Amino acid sequence: MDWVYNDTVKDHFMNPRNVLMDEDGFGEDGRGLTGNVKCGDQMLMLIKVDPDEERITDCRWKTYGCASAIASTSILSEVVKGLTLDEAFNLTPKDITARLGGLPEHKIHCSVLGDKALRAAVNDYYQRTGRPEKVREDKA
Ligand code: FES
Ligand code: FES
Repeated sequence: MDWVYNDTVKDHFMNPRNVLMDEDGFGEDGRGLTGNVKCGDQMLMLIKVDPDEERITDCRWKTYGCASAIASTSILSEVVKGLTLDEAFNLTPKDITARLGGLPEHKIHCSVLGDKALRAAVNDYYQRTGRPEKVREDKA
């Protein structure tokens, strides 16, 4: 049945990692906010960056999205730690759903939320450090 969530998805939905609790206490270096036009959900992603290596050292997120959005962004938040900004920017929703062991077909779009918010956060970091925005075609 392709609408059933697998155990990895359920685990990340029930115990989401790196959820933002205290926005003021995190002290982010980049901040990304996005909405999913398909259902109006919002996603906020905050990142901390090691400026020497341009590597993401930590991140926090929160969303009004559904179970799939929560599970996708939870696993994304684990994957991005330690990645360079370029590597993080080039992650795709497909990479994330693969890590989750798949999502029901009609829920794939939910995994785009975290991915977009992450890219917005990376771009916010670039802007804060006086560099031009990076652009990528959406690979949903
Ligand atoms: Fe999108 Fe409920 S239908 S969050
Ligand atoms: Fe809106 Fe999944 S994030 S339906």
